[in-house]
Order: sequence, then structure tokens, then C-alpha cells
Amino acid sequence: MKSFSLALVATQILSALGAKVEVQSSGGNATSGRQYGFLHEDINHSGDGGIYAELIRNRAFQYNEHYPLTLDGWFPVNGASLELRELDEPLSDVLPVSMKVSKGKNYRHGKIGFRNDGYWGMDVKKQKYKGSFWVKGDYKGNFEASLQSNNTNDVFGAVKVKSNARKDEWVEHKFELTPWENAPTSNNTFVLQFDPKGVKGDLDFNLISLFPPTFKDRENGLRKDIAESLYELHPSILRIPGGNMLEGLDNKTWWDWKDTLYPLRYRKGFPGVWGYQQTYGLGMMEYLWWAEDMDLELVVGVYAGLSMDGSITPEDELQQFIDDALDQIEFLKGGVDTKWGARRAELGHPEPVDLHFVEIGNEDWYAGGQAGWDSYKEYRLPRFIEAISAAWPELTIIASGTHTDRDGIDLPEGIYGDYHPYKMPDVLVEEFDRFDNDGPHIVGEVAATHVNGGIGWEGSLYYFPWWIGTVGEAVSMIGYERNADRVFATFYAPILRNMNFWNWSVTLVQFDAWTVTRSTSWYLWELFAFHPMSHTLPATEDFGPVYYVAGKNEDQGSFIWKGACYNTTNGADQPVSVKFDGVQEGTKASLTMLTNSVSDPMRWNDPYNHTNIVDRSTVVLSANKDGAFEFEMPELSIAVLDTDYKKEACRNKKAKQKRRSVEQPFAA
Ligand SMILES: *[C@@H]1O[C@H](CO)[C@@H](O)[C@H](O)[C@H]1NC(C)=O
Ligand SMILES: *[C@@H]1O[C@H](CO)[C@@H](O)[C@H](O)[C@H]1NC(C)=O
Ligand SMILES: *[C@@H]1O[C@H](CO)[C@@H](O)[C@H](O)[C@H]1NC(C)=O
Ligand SMILES: *[C@@H]1O[C@H](CO)[C@@H](O)[C@H](O)[C@H]1NC(C)=O
Ligand SMILES: *[C@@H]1O[C@H](CO)[C@@H](O)[C@H](O)[C@H]1NC(C)=O
Ligand SMILES: *[C@@H]1O[C@H](CO)[C@@H](O)[C@H](O)[C@H]1NC(C)=O
Ligand SMILES: *[C@@H]1O[C@H](CO)[C@@H](O)[C@H](O)[C@H]1NC(C)=O
Ligand SMILES: *[C@@H]1O[C@H](CO)[C@@H](O)[C@H](O)[C@H]1NC(C)=O
Repeated sequence: MKSFSLALVATQILSALGAKVEVQSSGGNATSGRQYGFLHEDINHSGDGGIYAELIRNRAFQYNEHYPLTLDGWFPVNGASLELRELDEPLSDVLPVSMKVSKGKNYRHGKIGFRNDGYWGMDVKKQKYKGSFWVKGDYKGNFEASLQSNNTNDVFGAVKVKSNARKDEWVEHKFELTPWENAPTSNNTFVLQFDPKGVKGDLDFNLISLFPPTFKDRENGLRKDIAESLYELHPSILRIPGGNMLEGLDNKTWWDWKDTLYPLRYRKGFPGVWGYQQTYGLGMMEYLWWAEDMDLELVVGVYAGLSMDGSITPEDELQQFIDDALDQIEFLKGGVDTKWGARRAELGHPEPVDLHFVEIGNEDWYAGGQAGWDSYKEYRLPRFIEAISAAWPELTIIASGTHTDRDGIDLPEGIYGDYHPYKMPDVLVEEFDRFDNDGPHIVGEVAATHVNGGIGWEGSLYYFPWWIGTVGEAVSMIGYERNADRVFATFYAPILRNMNFWNWSVTLVQFDAWTVTRSTSWYLWELFAFHPMSHTLPATEDFGPVYYVAGKNEDQGSFIWKGACYNTTNGADQPVSVKFDGVQEGTKASLTMLTNSVSDPMRWNDPYNHTNIVDRSTVVLSANKDGAFEFEMPELSIAVLDTDYKKEACRNKKAKQKRRSVEQPFAA
């Protein structure tokens, strides 16, 4: 960890450069206390193959009119023949196709079976995996489940599973498998074999599943290292179920929460909007557990009659979707004496969810063009508002756009807007005052995505979050937090990028089958969320090149100042003085600063070599005789000053331990 230069500066030069901030002891605005979070979208295998911990790809041969039936992911073992077929008695109505496994032309002797290479490999180490598969057919003997290298003959672990298979019935087999050694790479496969001599007739398989230990040990849960990289951001709010994903490809295949409430055997899957079939494994209940396990408040998006193909539900057909949204809210908020509340209880969650926010649709100004937006303003949004506020007057309703989208929208009294800036860093900085004179909003998706001087949205996204982009985000987040009475919460989006399958490049976290890399922006979001304010405090308003917000955390009784320094004249360091009204000489505060260790604003944290270019350093300052804290901010830096000066030391200790386990998955 490098340290930045800490110079004590004479107050005279402060008027010429940097910022001299005087913070009043009262006034300002209460924050929601739920300021930072993220949107999860299963964009290019960040759900299935990403945070959803299932290791087997194409586990149930799901398909639909958008994605054909396929044997992707599956390979025969020892001369077996694999054949997809529809039996008269399928595993379930929604999983009609299974895999027949028999002796193929090249079979000589020994056990046959199949292997699956997962989502571009599998992380195999000495830990307990839980597996299951369904089989139909008459087989006497053992199955053998193992984890093996896909490149060599190495077997890392194996277990025998006694067959209970029967001729006319689907029978589930469950097993646990603990490898005896760690695999040296992620190029591994799951293998299932059996002895064809014990089979009478045919053997068919379906819903073949394997989970490593999951985050907080949830069944059907989240991949631990990825979930931890999100949990350690100290998030407080989660927007689900994605953006475009909510809308679906068309109005027959939107993300239907009701279809996700069943055991996996009865989940038909979802035609993903990012180019692949999804399992529906990460369903409504899984989102609920996710939120609870990370202590996140939910913003739940409901389908509102617009899909990605631009189809718009006419007014006289809209009621079915309004009813569906009301069911969904009842599912979350209703008592166990309501129809859908009872269903939730049946699924293991009797207590109602403390839900406060429902969003109507997603980006309704986008997929359907002007006609989609017009229909939203004319009848879709009003009809949803009317029905939801009648049934649940205490809920806050969020519209899926704002007055700067297309020709704008006049949001009715009490209805929040949702703003989605995917911008160049310069534009995020220009928009620092975006909410100074506006109504209530969430910033439901934000990220610096395009480089300065480019053509913006029409151009390409940059490779990864990069330093100046991160600082641009910091400036915009400070702008939102200054207006915490109007901007209830801010969500990074999208958060996860699977390095083996993507086209949205800029995400908080990058991962593959066995590594996780935190971006430059991860360090910013973590730092700001680690120092929550319960309310802002009025302060001198003299912004640029240092942008800032000041406030107080009433629980800790501490004063907090967050700042970012963007494009100083000639790259000069900026003297900063922060004086909180009532703070005495000698009061201590921690100053945590993020800087760019490679002095190149265009660089990123590389997921191939895992270098972290972000320097984070903390010093403890004492207030001078005027009660002011004085320090310098280098060009393109981010800082948090907190009079709860011990807090940072605790975080750094914890984070260091966690990072070790994540970044060195195979340390002996
Ligand atoms: C929020 O704070 C700003 C300045 O600190 C002030 O102008 C505004 O009136 C406050 N809003 C509320 C609702 O108190
Ligand atoms: C596993 O091996 C097969 C060839 O047998 C190859 O097509 C596949 O890409 C490999 N998968 C991984 C993750 O290495
Ligand atoms: C995994 O196998 C692929 C080819 O299937 C190869 O390109 C890649 O380098 C291998 N990765 C490792 C970590 O061995
Ligand atoms: C579904 O989309 C089609 C095609 O755009 C449209 O004609 C139909 O009215 C829509 N139906 C519903 C219920 O939204
Ligand atoms: C998803 O990522 C793959 C691989 O990078 C890319 O080929 C594909 O176009 C992407 N699909 C969509 C719809 O984003
Ligand atoms: C993602 O890929 C799809 C298809 O390959 C393309 O149409 C879309 O524009 C891409 N999106 C971005 C943001 O690059
Ligand atoms: C800020 O500096 C960067 C170079 O670091 C430059 O690309 C960008 O255009 C500058 N922005 C403004 C508003 O001057
Ligand atoms: C890591 O990769 C980046 C390119 O993304 C490169 O600039 C940097 O020098 C590499 N660092 C190391 C330590 O290899």
C-alpha cells in the first residue's frame, strides 16, 4: 500500500485552489439509509453460469421457440451414445426432453456415461459438492459420480451412488462428493458413469445438477466468491429481476415470477434476452433469500406490458398484468392468510417482506420507441398506479423513466422517477447538479461506460471500468448523495461479467469459472457505502475541481465528508479544508483516499493478471485550532473523511482476510 503525500497547507492558498468547506451543524436532508446497491441482470451468463452456483450447463435440456434443444455442454464417456428424446412420461410437463445414454458404435467394454464441462470449466477443490440427477429405467448397480480434468486423465474426487432406478418411474438420486485434491486449473468436468451390464432396456437422465458450497449455505444458492465480492461492497439495496430481463423477448415470454416458484423439476426455464436459454434457477424466492442473506432492501420491478420486441399491451388487455403485479406484491407483502402470502409461507418464508418500492416496468421509453413511451404515459403507468396505490397505499411507486427520457414524463405527485445514466466520465461530472432541482428518483442504473471525447452511447463501451470513469462515477454519486432527499438510492448496473461470454464489458466485478476480479469502480462503491450518512448537512457550495458532500451519521455520532477531485488545472494537487461546525481542535478523523497507482487515467483492473491499480490508503488527521481538517487531494482522486476514525482500521483488517481467500483460490 503506497501512501499519498499529506501536506498541511496554509489557509491563504485555499481560496485560490481546491476547496474550503464549512459544514453547518444542522439542516440538510435525511438519507434513506439505503443509498448504494446494484441491479442484477442475467446478462451474458452472469446469473446462470455466474452468481447462480449451479455448475452443470444445460442441466435439464430446456428450450423454447427462441432457443433450440441442444446437447451443449454434454460429452459421451467411453463410447457411449447420447440422444435427446421426448418420453411418453417425461420428468415433468415443463421438462419434456431427457437424455438417453446407451452403448454407442465405438463401445468396447467397461462403464459408460457422460460428462459436462460446466460454464467454461468448473472450480474443483477440496470442499463438499452436492449433486443430484433423475433417472428412468431399470438399472441394478452403482452410478459413479466424479470430478475430473477435461484435459488429462486426472480424477480429483469420486463417489458411488447406489441405484434406486426403476423401469417406469423417474427416480431422483442425490449424492455428496468431496474431492481429495484441488484441481490445478478450471478445465474440469463432472462425470457420471454406470455399468451397461446392469441395465435392462434404456436409461434416460434429466435435471443433472451439482452445487459447490454456496453463500450462507443456501440450497440452490449463490456462488460464494462472487456473492462475497458483492456482499463486501456493503450494499443495502437490490433491484430485481433485472432490466431488459423483466420485459422478456416478447409478451409471451417475459420474466414470469410465478413460473419460478416451483421445485427445479417444475421450472420450465426462461428465454433469456441476452442470447441464451436461462434455467429459472434464480427465481423469485432465490432473489428473496439473496436479499435477506445480504440484508438488502428490494426494489421489485413488475412487468408492465412492454417487451423487448416492442410489443405494447393494448389498454383493454392490460388488466391481466395489473392483476399479476398485485399477486406479486401480495406474494411479498401479504399475510399468511392471503392467497399469495400463504404460498410464500409454503415456500419457507412466513414473515411478510418489508417491501417499500415497486417499479412499473423497465425503461419504458426504450424498447417500444415513442409509441411504447406514449402508451406508458397515457394508460399503462396510470392504470398500475391506480390499482397498486389502492391496494397498498404505503408502497412507493417508481416509474421507469424520467423527464429527460425522450419527450419526458410529468411524474404524478408522489411517484418516483428512475434515471439510467450510462455515460462518459465528463458527462457524469457535468451532471453533478442533475438533481438539485428535481423531484424524487432512484438512479436505477449508473456506470461510466464510454470514454471522454467519443460519441457516447453510439460508440463502444470501454473494456472495463477504468480510473477516470470511476472518478466520474464518484462525482455523480456525490451529486446524488447531496440530494439524498430526492435520490433515494443509486444502483450500479450491470454488476457481473463472465469473462467467457459477454458483450457488456463494463461491470463492477469480472469472473470466470474460478477467479473473481474487482474493478476500479468496486473500490469506489465499497468506500462510499462503507461510510453511510443518516443525513446531509448544509455546506459551502463551491464545486470543481473538488466535488463533495458532507453529512452526519447519527448512529455513530460522526461527521463525514466525501469528495472527488476531477481534472485540476495542470494536474495540480488540491488543498482542501473541511470544517464541521462544532468540531473542536484535536478531534480525529480518518481520511481514506483512493488514487491511481499507475498514473494512467485510462487503465483498469485487469482480470487476466489480477492487478489492482487502485491505491487505498488511510491516515488519521487532527482538526487544527479552527476545528478544520486540512489535506491535499491529487488529480483524479476520491476521498472520505470520517470522524469515526477507527472504522477504517476494522474494515481493512476484515477485507484483507477476505481478499486472500478470494484471490488465491488454490493456496495450499
Ligand atoms: C435538502 O438540502 C438542501 C440544501 O442542503 C436544501 O436546499 C433543501 O431544501 C433540503 N430539502 C429538504 C426536503 O429539506
Ligand atoms: C472440454 O473438452 C472438450 C473436448 O473434449 C472441449 O470441446 C471443451 O471446450 C473442453 N472444455 C473445457 C472447459 O475445457
Ligand atoms: C483450458 O482448455 C482450453 C482448451 O480447451 C485452453 O485453451 C486453456 O488454456 C485451458 N485452460 C487452462 C487453465 O488450462
Ligand atoms: C402481444 O404482442 C402482440 C404483438 O405486438 C400484440 O398484438 C398483442 O396485443 C400483445 N398482447 C398482449 C396481451 O400484450
Ligand atoms: C453475449 O456474449 C457473447 C460472447 O461474447 C456474444 O457473442 C453475444 O453477442 C452476446 N449476446 C448478447 C445478446 O449480448
Ligand atoms: C450485444 O450484442 C448484441 C448482439 O450480438 C448487439 O445487438 C448489442 O448491440 C450488443 N450490445 C452492446 C451494448 O454492445
Ligand atoms: C478531463 O481530462 C481527461 C483526460 O484525463 C480528458 O479526456 C477530458 O476531456 C477532460 N474533461 C474536461 C471536461 O476537461
Ligand atoms: C496486466 O495487464 C495490463 C493490461 O490490461 C497491463 O497493462 C499490465 O502491465 C499487466 N500487469 C502485470 C503485472 O502483468
